Amino acid sequence: MQLEGKYVLITGGTRGIGKCMIQELVKGGVSKIAVIARDKQNLKQLAQEFEGVKFIKIAGDVANIEVLRDAVALIEDKWGHLDILINNAGIVSAGPLEDIQDEDLYDQVAINLTAVLLLTKYCIPLLKASKEAAILNISSGLGLIGKPFYAVYGSTKAGIRQFSDSMRRELAPFNISVTCAFPTATDTDMMQKFKGREMDSPEFVAERSIAGLLNKESQVIFGGEERLNENAMNFNAPDELDKIIAESYEERKTASIDHKAV
Ligand SMILES: NC(=O)c1ccc[n+]([C@@H]2O[C@H](COP(=O)([O-])OP(=O)(O)OC[C@H]3O[C@@H](n4cnc5c(N)ncnc54)[C@H](OP(=O)(O)O)[C@@H]3O)[C@@H](O)[C@H]2O)c1
Repeated sequence: MQLEGKYVLITGGTRGIGKCMIQELVKGGVSKIAVIARDKQNLKQLAQEFEGVKFIKIAGDVANIEVLRDAVALIEDKWGHLDILINNAGIVSAGPLEDIQDEDLYDQVAINLTAVLLLTKYCIPLLKASKEAAILNISSGLGLIGKPFYAVYGSTKAGIRQFSDSMRRELAPFNISVTCAFPTATDTDMMQKFKGREMDSPEFVAERSIAGLLNKESQVIFGGEERLNENAMNFNAPDELDKIIAESYEERKTASIDHKAV
């Protein structure tokens, strides 16, 4: 797949990995981009930063079903079709499950999972109207392995993994590819309150994720060999991984407390 001349819808393109993905798209020759995000000022800023791009700016919350319906209706009206859908917007609220506020639990499911299912559903007719379409869903390493103190976030991201597998198989006859990216810790606003380890840059994650979309890779897994080995252990010998994780229990708990970006 080539990017030149493609029509793209991205959620959460105003900051972090999403904004870097817009940079990649523009580098590849995309000039029609619809963006959904809540902060109007940041949406405005995009048009100033990427002068050659004709943006459709949709200021709204992806957890609001009307925002999603109106966004897709607007795209249908203006473009008549869609080539690439990128489900990127996401939030996190970590810590021991009993300490997570009920609203934060609901919001993570609504924004990270339900919105992705609904927006994809609404976009399918527009993607079918494209000659060659692609969907990129941004999951997380925590969607591959259930880690303590990220039970809610990890559940939403595991949902994205399963949804991506289902949709890839469901949409294959329509020449619509589905790629799921699994970033590990990435240096964005989302991680400002995370007291953890080294991180990938959002530029690197964006570049590799868009390359995965263009190559029609089913999965783009970050974190190198170490992460691949951990994934294999989680599948083949989960009890072994339990023991390893138990060794850093307190460290993990401390790092997760106050890790909230909503
Ligand atoms: N950073 C990491 O370490 C990491 C690791 C693995 C996976 N990921 C995933 O990668 C994706 C991007 O994360 P990031 O680190 O780039 O996050 P970020 O820097 O916090 O940016 C989040 C983007 O999503 C938008 N957004 C958040 N909630 C929204 C809502 N309710 N409705 C509409 N837009 C919303 C934000 O804009 P507004 O606030 O203006 O709405 C912003 O543009 C997320 O799905 C995240 O779960 C991140």
